[in-house]
Order: sequence, then structure tokens, then C-alpha cells
Amino acid sequence: MSKETKKKTVAVAFGVCLVCSVLVSAAAVSLSGIQAQNKKLDRLKNILLAGDMFSKNVDIEQIYKENIDTQIINLENGSVVPEKDYNEKLDPQKFDIKKMADDPQYGKAIPADEDKTGIKRQPRFMVIYKVVKDGKVKKIILPVYGKGIWSTMYGFIALGEDLQTVTGFTFYEHGETPGLGGEVDNPRWKRSWVGKKAFDEKGNVVIEVIKGTVDQSGPKAESQIDGLSGATLTTRGVDNLVRYWLGKNGYGPYLANLRERGIK
Ligand SMILES: Cc1cc2nc3c(=O)[nH]c(=O)nc-3n(C[C@H](O)[C@H](O)[C@H](O)COP(=O)(O)O)c2cc1C
Repeated sequence: MSKETKKKTVAVAFGVCLVCSVLVSAAAVSLSGIQAQNKKLDRLKNILLAGDMFSKNVDIEQIYKENIDTQIINLENGSVVPEKDYNEKLDPQKFDIKKMADDPQYGKAIPADEDKTGIKRQPRFMVIYKVVKDGKVKKIILPVYGKGIWSTMYGFIALGEDLQTVTGFTFYEHGETPGLGGEVDNPRWKRSWVGKKAFDEKGNVVIEVIKGTVDQSGPKAESQIDGLSGATLTTRGVDNLVRYWLGKNGYGPYLANLRERGIK
């Protein structure tokens, strides 16, 4: 009698486990589409945030569609890839920075002495976003990424028509500690980027995120951002990634072309 009870107990436990695992797997599979859609929406929301076009209760996809033009650029020579050359991977709608960086054809290794952001590889091409109003480009929103203390941080920096002034800055993905490095999401800190000069008149990158607080009367105040307190390593990561992506291995050649030929 007692043997039979043990067997039954095991069988019931096994049955419950089986049913639960089937339920969990089914939930994971059925929710994966929703998760992917939410991730995409969050990315679009951050593009709008960087472009200062986001407010609560707006239809993100609609605002994005009405205001944003995408382009794929060749980071090495700064040219814009013509639409006829788009393919399965070179497609603004499907562009995946991580996959492109790892791709043998579309990505490349960064020499260790130039890898200030610790990302090891980067794409040769990048998708960029232009805010267009009445047929004129008002802002350019550029993806940026690099290592913090715990994670790779992915975000956007927006530049104004003068291609010099920062008009927005935001991260859409990172794993830094809430309250420390996670303060990269602090709206007040993100707003402090707006109006800062990213480049000098010659096009050299001058923006920097410093340790501590910017001396507002100092000669570099217009290009400096306060560091995050208690998060020197994340702060250094943000400084490195912004300077890297605005520099010669990032958008330098593309921005130089725009300065020469005009923003289109
Ligand atoms: C649990 C834990 C989480 C931390 N998270 C971060 C972080 O997200 N970003 C960061 O820069 N430092 C983080 N630190 C602190 C760093 O180890 C280091 O002390 C800090 O970057 C120094 O910054 P400070 O010079 O501004 O104090 C963390 C420390 C601990 C113990």
C-alpha cells in the first residue's frame, strides 16, 4: 500500500512538472512576438526621445513614420548607401547593430589600441535617423554604443542642423546599476546634454563627460557634461563611447561629408 502511494506521489509530481513546463514553454513562445514588438517600440520611443518628439500617449509608430527618414551610411568613407544596394542585412528596418558588428562581411575588428569603448568589433555600415520638417533636415540621430562597468550601453545622440550642437541624448539598453550607473536614464542628466557643443569649428570632437561637476564659468563648460556621482566607470564609458562614435572610426567621415556638401 505504502509503495503504491510513493509511486503515485512521484507520478503526480512528474505530471505536474510536465504540465507546468509545457505551460511555461507555451507562454514563452507565444509571448516572444509581443516581447520583440515591445523592444522595437522602445527603440523607436528612444529615437523620438533623442529627437525631442516623444510625449506620453502619442502613437510612437505614427510620429516616427511622419517625422523620421532613415538612411544607411558607410562609416568608412561617410557615403550614403543608395536604396538600390539595400539587401537582407543592409535594410534600415531590419538593421541589427549587434549582428552587423559580428558579420564577417559587414563588421570588422577594432584594433586594440583604438578600441576606447571596449566593443572589440563594429559594423562597417550604420543606420541613421533624420528628423525632417517641411522637407528640411532639422536633426540627425546617430546610434552610439560602448561598454559601461557591467554592460554594453546602446543609445542615440542627436545633432542639430549646425552638425555641432547636441539636441538630444538617450540610452535604450544597458545593464548598469540602478541609482549608480543606471542614472544614465535620469531625465535631468539627459537634458543636460542639450545645447552642448560636440565639435569645435574645425570639426574636432570636443564634447566630454567629466568626473564631477562642470565649472560653468570655465572655458570648456559649453562642451562638458557632469559625471554621474558614484559611477565613475559608467561615466568614463559614456565619455568614451560618445567620443568614439563622433570621431574618425564612427560618424567622423559622414559628418565631414555633410559639412562639406550640406545636410540633406
Ligand atoms: C554593487 C555595486 C554596483 C556598482 N555599480 C556601478 C555602476 O553601475 N557604475 C559605476 O560606475 N560604478 C558602479 N559601482 C561602483 C564602482 O565599483 C566604483 O566604485 C565607482 O565607479 C567609483 O565611482 P566614484 O569615483 O564616483 O565613487 C558599483 C559598486 C557596487 C559595489
